[in-house]
Amino acid sequence: MDNRLMSALSTAFVQLHARLAPVAFVPEVRLHQADEPIGLWELTEGEFRSDRPPPFWAFAWAGGQGLARYVTDHPETVAGHRVLDLATGSGLVAIAAARAGAATVRAVEIDELAVAAVALNAEANGVHVDAEHGDILDGDARDAEVILAGDVFYSEAMANRVLRFLLRAARGGATVLVGDPGRAFLPRERFTELAAYQVPVSAALESVRVKHTTVWRLRTSRPGTAD
Ligand SMILES: C[S@@+](CC[C@H](N)C(=O)[O-])C[C@H]1O[C@@H](n2cnc3c(N)ncnc32)[C@H](O)[C@@H]1O
Repeated sequence: MDNRLMSALSTAFVQLHARLAPVAFVPEVRLHQADEPIGLWELTEGEFRSDRPPPFWAFAWAGGQGLARYVTDHPETVAGHRVLDLATGSGLVAIAAARAGAATVRAVEIDELAVAAVALNAEANGVHVDAEHGDILDGDARDAEVILAGDVFYSEAMANRVLRFLLRAARGGATVLVGDPGRAFLPRERFTELAAYQVPVSAALESVRVKHTTVWRLRTSRPGTAD
């Protein structure tokens, strides 16, 4: 399918199936969100009749909510800096960084529906975010000074690739912050805790109503090793 047509369809799909509402733990930001995940998931599979990923973009994940709260309450973390929001989903963290005064914000995603959602959500919040479709995990973070990643340690395959990417960036001098609600594949020994929150989440997605969520800073090596 032609790229522009795909992009227009993606935008229309987001507008049709998600509605603009404040984020539970970061009400300063409004996002196109779905009320419940299952119907939308079936719809994305059905509409595009392919190997569509689940509609991650339609929800504010606990890790992203915690990280967006942290950036909003500590704007000095990003103010005046070039920021990369990795695996941006709805764009929540990217939008929080732009609102907090980041010089530039690049938001990268592999799901083109998410890229459409990020563009709509940035516009709804009156900020500019460069939304980019692609997988950069085997590359580098270019000139990013601060890298933000919300809820990216949810699968082993993703976690391994993300960690390698983030470590390369941190060793190159970038500040790397991660928001995580205790996902199984977060290598905690590599991180220093900056803040912790009780974040409201969708019970249909998480089986609980609140997730203890930590904002971590990635260290460049494990304590006591050069690794
Ligand atoms: C659990 S969601 C978190 C989204 C957002 N950061 C938040 O906290 O709300 C994980 C996101 O990672 C994206 N993703 C998965 N693999 C990726 C990759 N290789 N590059 C970029 N994004 C990726 C998914 O499409 C999904 O939107």
